[in-house]
Amino acid sequence: MGDYSKRALAIQPTGVRKMFDMAGDDTISFGLGEPDFQPPAVAIEAMADAMRRGHNKYTTTAGLPELRQRIAESWAPYQEGLSSDNVCMTMSGTNALLNCFMTLVDAGKNVLLPEPYFPLYGPDVTLCDGESRYYPCLFEHEFIPQIDVLESLVDENTVAILYNFPSNPTGAMLNDRQRDELLAFAVKHDLWLISDEVYDRIVFEEKHVSFLGSGYDKLLLINSFSKTFAMTGWRIGYILSPNLEAMKQIIKIQYYITACSNDAMQYAILAAFDNANDYPAKMAIEFKARRDLICSRLNDMPGVSCHVPKGAFYVFPKVEVKGMNSEEVAMALLEGGVLCSPGSAFGQSGEGHLRFAYTISRDDISRGMDKVETVLRRLQAE
Ligand SMILES: Cc1ncc(COP(=O)(O)O)c(C=O)c1O
Repeated sequence: MGDYSKRALAIQPTGVRKMFDMAGDDTISFGLGEPDFQPPAVAIEAMADAMRRGHNKYTTTAGLPELRQRIAESWAPYQEGLSSDNVCMTMSGTNALLNCFMTLVDAGKNVLLPEPYFPLYGPDVTLCDGESRYYPCLFEHEFIPQIDVLESLVDENTVAILYNFPSNPTGAMLNDRQRDELLAFAVKHDLWLISDEVYDRIVFEEKHVSFLGSGYDKLLLINSFSKTFAMTGWRIGYILSPNLEAMKQIIKIQYYITACSNDAMQYAILAAFDNANDYPAKMAIEFKARRDLICSRLNDMPGVSCHVPKGAFYVFPKVEVKGMNSEEVAMALLEGGVLCSPGSAFGQSGEGHLRFAYTISRDDISRGMDKVETVLRRLQAE
């Protein structure tokens, strides 16, 4: 009689969604990590049009060559000379991540992962029979990892390090110097560098800082159109690598995961590149206004301090309430009409924090912050 695989039994449902199920209809939700915008109209039209024109079939595994070429060219400011051969379409960033780990990780090997983290990283490594080793990204270091800590975690079985900037859940971004130090660490230990850059186009004051373009070719860059074009439900993303041998392995694995991506949708993305390339920058203007609002409100509250995030659409304040952990604080806020995620849902380094996704209107942010302030003042007074 067959039983369940060890890998299925080894993973648990994510803690982030636990509270979502408890929210009432009138709860103000800072829970969801997805833009509250619709995809650009040109993309929707182009998808319908592509379906009418008969693009409802399998594509090659790597995907539509014109789209892959366009994606490669979009990275030219970071690295010239990339082509369609350097890109494999996937059915989301989530799919891209699993592909990378399947391509690199064997039993007995380990991967260095950020903590607090996007909650899929660790379970993905577990699904590949690997070991996750978490490096903390702490408030006191503006959520940037420290090289001495990375040095203490790496060993001869470490095959890869994953970096995620701009970060979910912290909104942290790197400057050039920090990028160079983190890159040098990967080079020194001959590690694969998986760079999750799905928020590269949701940045506020500064230009996105990428790991692409350094000349190090043990690099797998993950991206997705979920955030870029506000199409989380479409499920489309890609892996890009300067390393053509790595691309061969990635494409081979992708065949066995999904055979290919979605035919018509790839034409829609091409249309969005052509006709709505300024869409993420427009969304970023609104996210920046929301970020300023939510950060100034949070920093005025007792026991709360937050860094002003430079990218993505999350803020990860430190929230101190005597005798309560982040889950208990989040639960008290939920009872007060506000949904947010406890920092501990992103790993133990997230304890003492809450994550607010500012993917709701400024009016709702203001109303939500009024409620947060009322609850925190009451808890602080108890
Ligand atoms: C850091 C990070 N990476 C990857 C993803 C996956 O995005 P998707 O699967 O929607 O492309 C997300 C989604 O929230 C994310 O926050």
